[in-house]
Amino acid sequence: MNTFQSILAKALSGALAKAGLPEAGELTQATDPRFGDYQTNVAFVLGKQRGENPRALAAKIVTHLDVTDISEPPSVAGAGFINFTLRSGAIEKQTLEMLQDERLGVQEAESPRCIVIDFGSPNVAKPMHVGHIRSTALGDSLARVAKFLGHEVIRDNHIGDWGTQFGMVIWGWKNLLDREALQRDPLAEIVRIYKETNERATSDPNIREACRQELVKLQAGHKENTDIWNECVALSMQDFERVYSLLDVRYDLQCGESFYNDQLPGVVDRLLKAGIAEISEGAVVVFFRDDPELADKPLIIRKRDGGFNYATTDVATIDYRVNELKADTIWYVVGAPQILHFKQIFAVARREGYAVDLRHVTFGSVLGEDRKLMKTRSGENVPLRELLDEACKRARKIVDEKNPDLSDEEKNDIAQKIGIGAVKYADLSQYRTTDYIFSWEKMLSLHGNTAPYLQNAYVRIRSIFRKADVAAPLSRGESRRQSAVATTLTLNEPAEINLAKRVCQFAEIVPQVLNGFRPNILANYLFELANSFHAFYEACPVLKSEEPARSSRLTLCELTGRVLQKGLELLGIKVPEKM
Ligand code: ARG
Repeated sequence: MNTFQSILAKALSGALAKAGLPEAGELTQATDPRFGDYQTNVAFVLGKQRGENPRALAAKIVTHLDVTDISEPPSVAGAGFINFTLRSGAIEKQTLEMLQDERLGVQEAESPRCIVIDFGSPNVAKPMHVGHIRSTALGDSLARVAKFLGHEVIRDNHIGDWGTQFGMVIWGWKNLLDREALQRDPLAEIVRIYKETNERATSDPNIREACRQELVKLQAGHKENTDIWNECVALSMQDFERVYSLLDVRYDLQCGESFYNDQLPGVVDRLLKAGIAEISEGAVVVFFRDDPELADKPLIIRKRDGGFNYATTDVATIDYRVNELKADTIWYVVGAPQILHFKQIFAVARREGYAVDLRHVTFGSVLGEDRKLMKTRSGENVPLRELLDEACKRARKIVDEKNPDLSDEEKNDIAQKIGIGAVKYADLSQYRTTDYIFSWEKMLSLHGNTAPYLQNAYVRIRSIFRKADVAAPLSRGESRRQSAVATTLTLNEPAEINLAKRVCQFAEIVPQVLNGFRPNILANYLFELANSFHAFYEACPVLKSEEPARSSRLTLCELTGRVLQKGLELLGIKVPEKM
């Protein structure tokens, strides 16, 4: 199924060829509906390039444009824009085709890639905090979209399960551990001993040295220390798993940093041999002398004491992903503070001759209502588990008010969908590199650009179908045959035409998410769709209207529901049947 955008773009290419002009500019959805549905700046761009009058160029292009099947005659406006307005017959036809298509018109990528997505990646012995929601929600959504577009996706949780902190954790475990507390809340106790040891080590050099000794023993494979380390990793993982199950996030791989330990000496030798790294003051270092940006930022891959770094592991990780997993693309969904780290790692990979496409997908911070980094009252990071529990609790209140007669079980299920959805949506609907303010009131509101607003639109559609007593399209286990599918559509009212157009845009929006890694494009589209649906719902009676409008409108409702559900699913958000 071709989208309007692709049909128009193809016609435009044909017209440019006929007019003897090169491809230029872009053809996009119109930014202002008063000018039509699609627009292109091609004449404007060509005019600038060639020093010709853009309006004259536009007029020339239009004479060669053949779009009569789907568009009213294109018009030239402003400084040389060409505008297209879809014919309602074309919209009807497209909508009906979409109805028959499981993929809702979304085409698979022409050249599927094998993409490793490195996201989430919390550290052992530290609880996941609110900051982790960003990497986790973003990475999960990008993985869902890439998969839907036909790419092979490998979701990898690069857990921080190795590093100097384990010297302290092990010393603390041996000297400070409260077994009872460990039983009650394992991760909290591990965090406590780590913190306390850290404080003591700061003021007491003997303890600092003792921690270092514990770390050396761990690295040498000492049995007791390895056992303690294993237990800490397992306990932390249990805690992470609980958060992942609440968030409905899963991984294909959770290798963790320690997985690469054996490879690190080999990586360093290889880079030395290749002349990419050199020995400098007893350490092994990569210098980027010919790179103006990194010239004064060397990368240490083996410390003077023989220890390896986070960066060394990341080099080994690329080897594994390319050679073993056969990845041709790796996306790292990691916060902006690691920009330099990834620039260095990517530069090393390029020097090694890797052709893999490496991207660092950064994001901004989550701020409290005071616009500072979100912290608890005592100044700690806000644990993610607590935050998600709180979201579900608050959502439960909404459900209690809206639908007091539901069973307790149903209410909890709905509250979880709303609460978790609200937190994820608040994150994903923002432009990813900007900081955003975490506000319970805003994210749980039933009005505005929120998950509950979108879920509510879906629920409204479901209730129309319950009332209509025709099998609704989306409930599991029902076959499409039973649902109210019209074979013809008649779109007359502006509100229904507008809704149908929006629905058809879904197939154009989804692929855009991967250009620049922006789930917010999809979120904002869904918000517009819900707005169009509400406008339609106000203006056009559905169940009370006469045929053929009734069937036609039911079909529009059905498609809107499917798009809302699929779109939210691509953001990792579930829809309740009632709320
Ligand atoms: N565990 C790291 C941190 O919390 C993030 C890991 C990101 N992935 C990677 N391959 N370096 O900062």
